[in-house]
Amino acid sequence: MTISSSVPPAPSLLAHDARKDLLRLLETELIGSSDLVPLTDERYLETHGIYEGRSDQQPLIIDWFGDWFADRIAASQPSKDGFRILSVGCGSGILDVQIATRLQAQTHDLDCDVHYVGVDPNRIECETFEQNFADAALDKTRVEVVNTTFEDLETGRGFDVIHFVHSLYYMPDPKSALEKARKLLAPGGRLIVFQAPCEALNDLTVCFWDKQYERQTLFAEDFVEILEAWHWDYKRARVDAQLEVSPLAEADSSIGLALKDFIVQIDSTRLSAPVQELVDRYLRLVSVDSVEERGKTHISHPVDVFVIGG
Ligand SMILES: C[S@@+](CC[C@H](N)C(=O)[O-])C[C@H]1O[C@@H](n2cnc3c(N)ncnc32)[C@H](O)[C@@H]1O
Repeated sequence: MTISSSVPPAPSLLAHDARKDLLRLLETELIGSSDLVPLTDERYLETHGIYEGRSDQQPLIIDWFGDWFADRIAASQPSKDGFRILSVGCGSGILDVQIATRLQAQTHDLDCDVHYVGVDPNRIECETFEQNFADAALDKTRVEVVNTTFEDLETGRGFDVIHFVHSLYYMPDPKSALEKARKLLAPGGRLIVFQAPCEALNDLTVCFWDKQYERQTLFAEDFVEILEAWHWDYKRARVDAQLEVSPLAEADSSIGLALKDFIVQIDSTRLSAPVQELVDRYLRLVSVDSVEERGKTHISHPVDVFVIGG
């Protein structure tokens, strides 16, 4: 199944070769580089908000959850004890508030409360999560956020849903995180993982991630291999989204800089001049003119969703 926004034409095969050439040059330029300065927690929060705000991916993910809850709750009514959901790597909660709103709407008539738990090691994101939920004032949803890594989270079993939305990449041992998550599910519970494929945008990101974290980043393709090897039952669908990147072409644009920082997940101003130039050339190459809005450019921003369990 594929869920799509209005999709601009795909870049040509020639462009594919050109971007692989640029990536090779970038890899060479990055050898021995000591300029990879990670984003501070504050800058991560800021750039993530700007990045998501220019993509239609989050609205599509929220719609996906809304449809999934509707089907799931129609098929098996939650118990009167309530519906328990854990968001792993919840971040600021901009996504979770919307997911919780859809879930509360689905369970409202069943007299069933929702217990929504978030976990994230970034303190500033957790504080923003609390504030975002307080502002939303969801009357049938009990909310809790735990400021730690998922690996260190101590919690009882019994979640009806545990989701990882773009968070599994950050875990040093994603396999044990998945095993832990599966053990925390209630009988009949589901694990939901939104994991990007390694395509045009992430081909660039991964050059920096693999160096910063000193390990291979897990993308959707690698995730499939794990699920197949473990013989876990799963369903996979593609959410085809677009990231609007016009500010990348504007000189001295703070929005353009925020987009670039979040894409490479480091302070891009601290990169050497040749690396900055290669990053800029690469981003221009994978940007496509909008078919609907003159002067706007987009980069393909897909994500795959996996539903795991019985
Ligand atoms: C790209 S953000 C996604 C946030 C949110 N799920 C969303 O889609 O808006 C990834 C989040 O994973 C968190 N994270 C990183 N390492 C983690 C870990 N070991 N356990 C739990 N969360 C982690 C980061 O702090 C960050 O907030």
